[in-house]
Amino acid sequence: MVRQEIRDSVAVLTLSNPPVNALGADLRAALDAGLERALADEAVRAVVLAADGKVFVGGADISEFGKPPRPPLLPDVIARLDAAGKPVVAAIHGAALGGGLELALGCHARVVGPAARLGLPEVKLGLIPGAGGTQRLPRLVGPEPAFAMMLGGEPVGAQEALASGLADALEPGDLVGAACALALRLAAEGRPPRIRDRADRMDPAAREAFEARAAEALKRAPGQPNVAALVDAVRAGFDQPFDEAVKLERARFVALVDDPRSKALRYAFFAERETARVPGLPKDTPRRDIASAAVIGAGTMGGGIALCFANAGIPVTVIETEQDALDRGLARMRATYAASVKRGSLSQAAMDERLARITGAVGLARADRADIVVEAAFEEMGVKEAIFSELTRIAKPGAILATNTSYLDVDRIADSTDRPGDVLGLHFFSPANVMRLVEVVRAARTAPDALATANDLARRLGKLPVTVGVCFGFVGNRMLARRSAAGERLLLAGALPHEVDAAVTGFGFRMGPFAMSDLAGLDIGWRTRKATGGKAPIADALCEQDRLGQKTGRGFYLYPEGARTGARDPEVEALIAAESERRGIARRSFTADEIVARLMLPMVNEGARILEEGIAARPGDIDTIWLNGYNWPAWRGGPMHWADGIGLAQVAADLELFAAESGDDSLRPAPLLARLAAEGKGFSDWNAR
Ligand code: COA
Repeated sequence: MVRQEIRDSVAVLTLSNPPVNALGADLRAALDAGLERALADEAVRAVVLAADGKVFVGGADISEFGKPPRPPLLPDVIARLDAAGKPVVAAIHGAALGGGLELALGCHARVVGPAARLGLPEVKLGLIPGAGGTQRLPRLVGPEPAFAMMLGGEPVGAQEALASGLADALEPGDLVGAACALALRLAAEGRPPRIRDRADRMDPAAREAFEARAAEALKRAPGQPNVAALVDAVRAGFDQPFDEAVKLERARFVALVDDPRSKALRYAFFAERETARVPGLPKDTPRRDIASAAVIGAGTMGGGIALCFANAGIPVTVIETEQDALDRGLARMRATYAASVKRGSLSQAAMDERLARITGAVGLARADRADIVVEAAFEEMGVKEAIFSELTRIAKPGAILATNTSYLDVDRIADSTDRPGDVLGLHFFSPANVMRLVEVVRAARTAPDALATANDLARRLGKLPVTVGVCFGFVGNRMLARRSAAGERLLLAGALPHEVDAAVTGFGFRMGPFAMSDLAGLDIGWRTRKATGGKAPIADALCEQDRLGQKTGRGFYLYPEGARTGARDPEVEALIAAESERRGIARRSFTADEIVARLMLPMVNEGARILEEGIAARPGDIDTIWLNGYNWPAWRGGPMHWADGIGLAQVAADLELFAAESGDDSLRPAPLLARLAAEGKGFSDWNAR
């Protein structure tokens, strides 16, 4: 795990623990032993820490968190490194994150390669650095910049690291050689310089800057325990001796590891990575080459998808049936880029380069050269069938034929071609150039190489693909439909839109379902319901009155003079009350917790059906979809993880109650949920099978 070679009286210790050199117990022990040997060896004057692979060190081993600690602990290893009588220099060629950067901060100098990225992302896992990071980083780069870096969790690149003093040198050539040379220079100078001994950046002005930033952070994240802990730990660096402050940091870190919010974030980290393992799709499945794309439809979705290709460097032809529609679509794409240039997030040169990759065309015939065709036309089976049957004639052999349908039957679409093996769904979320999630829909006859290629392609586009099976609405929208129905039921039973929305934002969503409908436009759901025979008595009634949401100035709420936040509308509330009365429902009030349970548990129940039918491979896949496509609050880990936290026995009992209350048998616990509940298990146990 740790290789040692001697170069010019420098011991080069190379960490090797694929895939990311995470600092698990075995690696820590090997590093400790390697260091001890090097320090004891009289022929060795200095030490260099380097690493194999793409990443320097991806952090502490997150999978060890919450388990009984196995010595040597990382803070102890780092303390020994820090105290070494011979200089130790880190040679950082790739990402040094979390414990990886803390390790490098325990060294006496850092040399980085051009691809290095240095960061302390613990906050993103609901934690704080726990191996000296909150003490050494402020002493090195200044408390306020250090605090900002730990609060945001984003890594900095090599240049920035050099500019801030985080790195001592940037070496584009022989990194380890440069680190050895620096180590020998330090050895010649005498006692290795230790960050812990530095106090020059911890002055009153720096404290003031830090306190101002800390106050702002606490205001923005009230009740977020890791932000408060981070503030306390950095502050301790001013008020307490180094060793005491490190102890405080560790104690706060250890407490946070047990916090359910951090557990949920860690669960989500692994769940997201697990989605890459698609059952029945071995890693060595052959891939097809994708060098060009065609997108059918230049509407909002088609345009957004085309931008994704252009952004990723893949030439794309955007196809419409008429020149006018094409021109409008292309203008919208240009406007999207122009807005980014105006905001400063894209250069004019990059915009020009990306636009040059987009070609407009009228008529399907122009899809003939594309390696992948993504259909984003009107959401109607007849339209899709016509397009796919024509593609059979037009598309080149081996091209992947993808539909962006959000609920139609991909198997039926595949039937309209003579090459169903090439057909699959790529369900992007709106706005497609922004949202990370893509549901990759595997139809009954989708060829494995087409599926593997589509997954790889989605990653090339910077997306997070999750493979799902064919059913109405796939995973996300199928569950969402349950929540929408529950929202309507709540309105009829006695809740008002603002009460439901407040309960949902209180739960952690950025927006409630009714405010969201108003923003998106009520006609979207209305159109789908009309096409599919669905019903939503309140929303339908609003649509019939031309209350389509923000764009018409009124929906579930009122938006006088273009207001972005809706105000309660007595007319809507009267309409709801009248509808309850017409149905003979005695209205009652609901607490926020009752509202949340009534909205979310039917979704969880649908998730159980989705698992049982094999539409999603794992509960974690469902959670990843909800976290990345529907803004489920990250620290709640997704609906299935959340339900496990409640306990499935309770969930089942609640669902029985909702079914009895409403007379709707579809609310009764799904067989899988009932079985797990009866066995005292959770969805995570099912995951393990
Ligand atoms: N502990 C344990 N496992 C880790 C890990 C860590 N700190 N970091 C990554 N891994 C695992 C992943 O689970 C994945 O495992 P799998 O292949 O079995 O699914 C594998 O390493 C590769 O990770 P992945 O994220 O897919 O690779 P990448 O090359 O895209 O990114 C990193 C590499 C290091 C940038 C990224 O993994 C990362 O951000 N890791 C977490 C860093 C972090 O938060 N550290 C602080 C810990 S307190």
